[in-house]
Amino acid sequence: MPVIRLSRLSHAYRPGVFALRDVELTVEQGERVALLGESGAGKSTLLRCLNGLVTPTTGTVTVLGQPVNLLGEDERRLLRRRIGMVFQEFNLIERMTVLQNVLVGRLGYVSAWKSCLRLFPSADVQLAQSCIEQVGLNGYAHTKVRNLSGGQKQRVGIARALAQQAEIILGDEPIANLDIRTSQEIMRLLRDINRRTGATIVLSLHDVDAARHFCTRIVGLRAGEVVFDGAVERCDEKVIQRIFY
Ligand SMILES: Nc1ncnc2c1ncn2[C@@H]1O[C@H](COP(=O)(O)OP(=O)(O)O)[C@@H](O)[C@H]1O
Ligand SMILES: [Mg+2]
Repeated sequence: MPVIRLSRLSHAYRPGVFALRDVELTVEQGERVALLGESGAGKSTLLRCLNGLVTPTTGTVTVLGQPVNLLGEDERRLLRRRIGMVFQEFNLIERMTVLQNVLVGRLGYVSAWKSCLRLFPSADVQLAQSCIEQVGLNGYAHTKVRNLSGGQKQRVGIARALAQQAEIILGDEPIANLDIRTSQEIMRLLRDINRRTGATIVLSLHDVDAARHFCTRIVGLRAGEVVFDGAVERCDEKVIQRIFY
């Protein structure tokens, strides 16, 4: 069973103006997919459809076997727990520590009143510590996020997804705010996590080299339509032209 299936997906934020048009996409477990396209192509909209933040105008979204737009509040929350998100702007709580931010990944698992009191089970704290080590931030658990570099912040974002034990990791331009070397480190980290845990990874990117180097498959979006879908090996210059020009 595929982990993601989009069928005839279209979305218009305003009537008649389509951000996505007739998108068909099936992703199998363990793939590393790059959504490639210029600004405005519809990459973020597609990612938001996957976690239910956007309800598409038409079409169906099935994630981990669940019809995202037909779920009730509770079911949707349970599904979101299985989907980790990393962001261009990191979406961390700057005044809190690395450990506290990573523990946010456990919030879906802790009852509301306990999380208000920040009473995380010690197993959660241990898991968070191990995720912090897995992303190479040993020794930073008690550092406030605002004192970290961009690359380190993105590592915290990834550790949060790991702590969530997410089966799918979605990234919306996760390297757009980073320099080239740091971008490569972050892409390598995501690739290693994918290989080790089998988590499916879907990233929106506009960096062709990063997509080709670190992903297994490229989905090219242009003006809301899929103009290429195939293995990275097939993504030659002609394809890049089709996606970007
Ligand atoms: N919240 C919104 N309201 C209205 N239009 C939007 C909104 N978000 C995105 N759009 C439009 O939808 C299209 C696709 O945007 P987006 O999915 O953000 O593309 P990308 O992530 O590839 O840059 C663009 O034309 C954009 O202006
Ligand atoms: Mg975007």
